[in-house]
Amino acid sequence: MAIAAISLWAIYQRRRRLQERLESRDALRRAAQELDATIAVRTQELRVANQALEGKYVTLQQTESLLRSTQNELVQAGKLAMLGQMAAGVTHELNQPLAAIRAFADNAVQFMRRGQLPQVEENLEHISGASAHMGKIIAQLKGFARKSGDAIAVVDVAQTVEAAVLLLRNEFRQQAVSIEIDVRSPVQVMGDVVRTEQVLINLLRNAIDAVETVEYVADKRVTVIVEHEAGEAVIRIRDSGPGIPDEVAPHLFEPFFTTKPSGKGLGLGLAISSSIVQAMNGRLSAHNLPEGGAEFIVRLPAPAPDPASAIHGDIIDRTRHPD
Ligand SMILES: Nc1ncnc2c1ncn2[C@@H]1O[C@H](COP(=O)(O)OP(=O)(O)O)[C@@H](O)[C@H]1O
Ligand SMILES: [Mg+2]
Repeated sequence: MAIAAISLWAIYQRRRRLQERLESRDALRRAAQELDATIAVRTQELRVANQALEGKYVTLQQTESLLRSTQNELVQAGKLAMLGQMAAGVTHELNQPLAAIRAFADNAVQFMRRGQLPQVEENLEHISGASAHMGKIIAQLKGFARKSGDAIAVVDVAQTVEAAVLLLRNEFRQQAVSIEIDVRSPVQVMGDVVRTEQVLINLLRNAIDAVETVEYVADKRVTVIVEHEAGEAVIRIRDSGPGIPDEVAPHLFEPFFTTKPSGKGLGLGLAISSSIVQAMNGRLSAHNLPEGGAEFIVRLPAPAPDPASAIHGDIIDRTRHPD
């Protein structure tokens, strides 16, 4: 009797365990199904989000390329406008040696007729010198007018400053402004030489305009300082003008902001210059000097200078005046 009761109890127990196992298997299956459904929903959501993101990314890329091409167009347009402004000065600069060449050639003919060969030779040398000078100016202009894309190369900063000053020589002379280039350390940057030159021409032109109102000719000064500072090429363009008025300072780099009479200023110079400098991962800033006048600073990333070129840590002073 007792044995029968025990075996019945055991059967009951086994059934219960079986029942429990079946129930937990069902629960597990349901949980797995729910999980699958949740995963499917989430995957779908993720897919939709991903597609939206891809769409946004494509739009972003399109906007960015539009921005870049607009910026390039703006730089090119500004350059052409500047070329137009420079045309008068450059024509004058070319006319002088041209007139000299004609005079030397005419005289050489006379000397030749008289059999004075040493004078002929001397005149021919003058002609050669004057035409070389013209060639230099033309080469600068050709380089400048070229539509430069992203022609990245090693740019020697001092050479670029000199090239920019050479192109503006006539303006400096006409306005009786002295220009001093002070290369404190040789420095090279990676960038587009033509665009770097364009920035310098803009800043130098502004400096010439700024000193226009200075009363004494001896006080009309523009100084360019080139130095290497903490991994950066630093170009400072200082002038002895009245400085930047407080109400002008916040608008300096805005396109089409100008305080100059129409025909003289387009108000594009600083806007374009700062976009060029930014494209070269640099910065363009401006402030007034304590002694009066403004200082515009171009900072461009530059690796450490070649140790061979600064063996004695010497300061290379190439201070010079064009006249
Ligand atoms: N060296 C400077 N000294 C004082 N003001 C300056 C100087 N450079 C620029 N500015 C001011 O910034 C303005 C904008 O300059 P810019 O963008 O080159 O245009 P623009 O020369 O055609 O006027 C100038 O009109 C002038 O008021
Ligand atoms: Mg300007």
